Amino acid sequence: MNTAVPNTNSQALYGSWGFEDRTYIVTGGGSGIGRAVALALVGAGARVVVAGRTPEKLEETVELAGKAGGEALAVPTDVRDPEAVEALVAAGVERFGRLDGLVNNAAGNFVAPGIDLSPNGWHAVVDIVLNGTYYCTRAVARHLREQGTGGSILSVIATYAWHGHPGTVHSAAAKAGVLAMTRTLAVELAPLGVRLNCIAPGPTETEGAGAALWATPTARDRVLSTVPSARFATPEEIADTSLFLLSERSAYVTGECLTVDGGQWLGKQVYGQSKG
Ligand code: HXC
Repeated sequence: MNTAVPNTNSQALYGSWGFEDRTYIVTGGGSGIGRAVALALVGAGARVVVAGRTPEKLEETVELAGKAGGEALAVPTDVRDPEAVEALVAAGVERFGRLDGLVNNAAGNFVAPGIDLSPNGWHAVVDIVLNGTYYCTRAVARHLREQGTGGSILSVIATYAWHGHPGTVHSAAAKAGVLAMTRTLAVELAPLGVRLNCIAPGPTETEGAGAALWATPTARDRVLSTVPSARFATPEEIADTSLFLLSERSAYVTGECLTVDGGQWLGKQVYGQSKG
């Protein structure tokens, strides 16, 4: 079985995809998938505003963007705070003069049985994933309306938004909410030229997801055994699909969710068949 990871180069891949001089906000842009998307955007000619709770991690992304010959701005932000989100959008516009889109990537997660979850644990995840995504989407959409240019908003969810998964009730409920929000606003905002889509990555090799969801070698092997493609995704692969949905190459796609999971959710082995 060929499980090689494709070698991608965002400048070569996306140089003609219309990202030059466009500006995107990427939440959770200090690590993992968010950082990979931010750097792919920069590699494709865009400018990026990275938001997140840890300034040092954001500054690392800015430094990496600079080394790649691009420009990024770090704006420490807790997406749970609507006023901080407004300030994030204002900072991006002040620095770069315009906005063209948003990647709602910031997330919080841990595995815990729903029956034992404290109200505060529920709030922590739902506030980041659902409320934070709404605050960011609202603020950026309002700016795009004022700017009169249209734009593209992408939210990172997970397939358990529709199939559910034990231990993830807070995250699954919040991600399902993000999907419903995306479909609803896609219709409301289409006349403004604003598209909204989701991406549902499968298990992706990042520190955050690893620590939260497959913290031990046994847990990691168990997760891997559920993926028909027999490997984790790389953050760069998730970035590739994200750039497609952000770009004009998907100009007629809105309200959709693109699953990028190596076949994981379709391959559930209910009857114990090996993955071949
Ligand atoms: C049970 C827990 C817990 C755990 C936290 N809590 N961790 N309960 N099991 N493992 C409870 C706490 O006890 C507390 O409730 C409440 O949650 C808030 O915890 P805090 O630590 O005070 O909150 P905060 O600092 O805001 O942290 C938020 C967080 C944290 C979500 C809990 O994990 C976080 O910030 N994570 C961000 C990074 C992250 O998780 N990335 C992974 C995303 S991966 P009490 O009642 O005690 O006060 C991802 C991929 C999904 O989403 C898809 C995969 C296919």
